[in-house]
Amino acid sequence: MQTPQTDANPSAWAQRWLYPLAVTTLAVNILIVLTGGVVRLTASGLGCPTWPRCTDESFTPHGELGLHGAIEFGNRLVTFLLAAVAIAMFVAAWRSGRRSLASLAFVIGLGVPAQALIGGVTVLTDLNPWIVAFHLLVSMAMIQVAVVLLRRIREGDLPAVATVPPAVTWLVRATFVVGWVVLYLGTVVTGSGPHAGDLDAPRNGLDPAALSQLHTDAVFLLLGLTVGAVLALKAVGAPQHAVRAATVLLGLELAQGVVGFVQYFTGLPVVLVGLHLLGSALVSAALAWLLLGVRDRPVAFPRSPGKTRPTSTDITR
Ligand code: HEM
Repeated sequence: MQTPQTDANPSAWAQRWLYPLAVTTLAVNILIVLTGGVVRLTASGLGCPTWPRCTDESFTPHGELGLHGAIEFGNRLVTFLLAAVAIAMFVAAWRSGRRSLASLAFVIGLGVPAQALIGGVTVLTDLNPWIVAFHLLVSMAMIQVAVVLLRRIREGDLPAVATVPPAVTWLVRATFVVGWVVLYLGTVVTGSGPHAGDLDAPRNGLDPAALSQLHTDAVFLLLGLTVGAVLALKAVGAPQHAVRAATVLLGLELAQGVVGFVQYFTGLPVVLVGLHLLGSALVSAALAWLLLGVRDRPVAFPRSPGKTRPTSTDITR
C-alpha cells in the first residue's frame, strides 16, 4: 500500500522541503559574504567596538555609533537568519531519514556559531588581516559544504563511484586545489590593500602589487586547468552535469578575472571589490559542484524483480 503524501506525514514534509531549504542554505551563506563585504568596504568593521556585546553596556548599537554601528550590527543580525535556516535544514534532513544529509546539515549548523566566534575574534583583534582572511575562507568552505548537501540530496548513499577516467578525476581535483590557492591569495592581497574595514586597522605589511601579481598568476593556472577540464570532460563523454559545472566555472573565472583587472587598474572602487567578493563566493560554489560532478553515489533499493542497478536519477533528478 502506498504511503499517503500529506503534511501529516513528517517524511513527506521533509522530502518536499529538503531541496528548497538546501538552496536557501547556499543562498544565505553567499549573502553573509556580501553583508560582511559591506561591513569591510564601508569601514564599519569596528562599528560595534566589542563582542559579543556591541558596546560594553549594550548588545545593540546606540546613536553615537552612527551608520557604521548600524551596518556592523546588521551583519551580526544576518547570523540569526543563518541559524534559523540551518536549524530548519537540519530538521528536514533528520526527518528525511537520511543520516548522510543530517550530518552535512549538522556541519553547516556548527559553522554558524563557529563563524560568529571568529567574527568576534576579528573585532577583538582590531581587524587583524589574517583573521579577517580566515573568516572569509571559512565562509567559502561553508558555501562548498552547502553545495555538497545540495548534490547529496539528489544522490543515493552507496559508496561513491567515479564517472570519468582517473586522469580526468585528478585534473578536476587539481583545478579544485588551485581554485583554493587563488581564493587564499586573494584574501592575502586584500590584507595588504586599502580596504581594511576600519581606518586604523592594521595591514599585513606585504607588497600589494607583488601579491596581486601572484594572485593573477595563480588565476592563469586555474584558467588553464579549467579549460583542460572542460575539454577532457567532453572528450571522455562525462555526464552532462559535469561538463556544465566545468563550463559554468570557466565562465565565472573569466568574469571574475575581468572584474579583478578592472578593480586593480581603477584604484579598487568599493562596488567592484564587492562584485569581486560575490564572484569569489560563486567560484567557490562552482569548484565544489565540479568536484562532485565526476563521481556519483548510486541509490540502494531493496531487490525487486526487474530492477537491476538503480541510478541516482531514481531519486529526484
Ligand atoms: C578566478 C578568478 C579570481 C578569483 C576567484 C579571485 C578571488 C579573490 C578573493 C577571494 C579575494 C579576497 C576578497 C576579500 O578578502 O574580500 C580577492 C581579492 C582581490 N583580487 Fe581577486 N580573484 C580572481 C581574479 C583576480 C584577478 C585576475 C585580479 C587582477 C589583478 C584580481 C585582483 C584582486 C585584488 C586587487 C584583490 C584585493 C581587493 C581588496 O583590496 O579588497 N583578482 N580575489
